[in-house]
Amino acid sequence: MIEISALQEHETDAAVALWRTVNLTRPWNDPYADIDLALKSPIATVLAGRKNGQLVATAMIGSDGHRAWVYYLGITPSLQGQGLGRKMMEACETWASDKGVSKIQLMVRNDNLAVREFYQSLGYKPSDVVVLSRWLDENSQELERRSLLDRG
Ligand SMILES: CC(C)(COP(=O)(O)OP(=O)(O)OC[C@H]1O[C@@H](n2cnc3c(N)ncnc32)[C@H](O)[C@@H]1OP(=O)(O)O)[C@@H](O)C(=O)NCCC(=O)NCCS
Repeated sequence: MIEISALQEHETDAAVALWRTVNLTRPWNDPYADIDLALKSPIATVLAGRKNGQLVATAMIGSDGHRAWVYYLGITPSLQGQGLGRKMMEACETWASDKGVSKIQLMVRNDNLAVREFYQSLGYKPSDVVVLSRWLDENSQELERRSLLDRG
């Protein structure tokens, strides 16, 4: 069993280490700043899943006032495939319902499409949309541009 509640500040390093291990970080996203922003926001949080007091799972969730979005869903590799991902998504759904939000959305990177089967088994379906984005921060924009160039 895991216990799920909001990430505590002292668990930040463990969360970032987990994200690095399961390849959820990107050069243009500062994971510490992302955690700080979510934990300070009244309409977002990072949920932490703990086993025997140790952080083993995370999911960031926030409402934009219309939909709720999930980011940074990650389960420690040795415990994957045991239902923890499902439990974390259920916790996200409860968080969203409690805020009166009736739909959860999330983005899956093109280099991680295999994970779609996980979401599909939880009832998540592809949406007929293209996601457009624009950086409001030139430094992050440049980091993303260089990283994508490096990948060829
Ligand atoms: C994706 C991830 C969160 C899934 O968590 P998990 O704890 O391994 O998944 P669960 O054990 O809760 O699986 C729930 C269901 O999804 C299915 N499932 C899980 N991973 C799957 C996969 N890669 N392909 C197909 N089905 C999968 C399981 O069989 C299970 O189905 P069932 O309940 O009908 O038996 C986890 O593997 C992970 O942390 N991956 C790395 C980070 C990542 O890619 N996060 C998502 C970013 S969008």
